Amino acid sequence: MDQKEIIEGLKPICLCKGIKKKVFLKHIAAGIQTLAGLRKATGAGSGSCGGKRCTPRILDLLKEAEEKEHHAPPPHHHHK
Ligand code: FES
Repeated sequence: MDQKEIIEGLKPICLCKGIKKKVFLKHIAAGIQTLAGLRKATGAGSGSCGGKRCTPRILDLLKEAEEKEHHAPPPHHHHK
């Protein structure tokens, strides 16, 4: 993980609950790839705004993750 990714990960996604981007990425990596699933796993969307502010961001993350998967090179099995 490079520095840019670390800084990115500290960005809050759900402001009401103070949930950072990296928390969502962890769950996405673990296989939760739906809005409902992420909301449940992280508690996002249960804050005072009712998810008005974080929902579009979560959808963006899911889109991002999906695109990354599609563009990811096939796994290599090189050993150093
Ligand atoms: S920002 Fe997520 S519930 Fe308000």
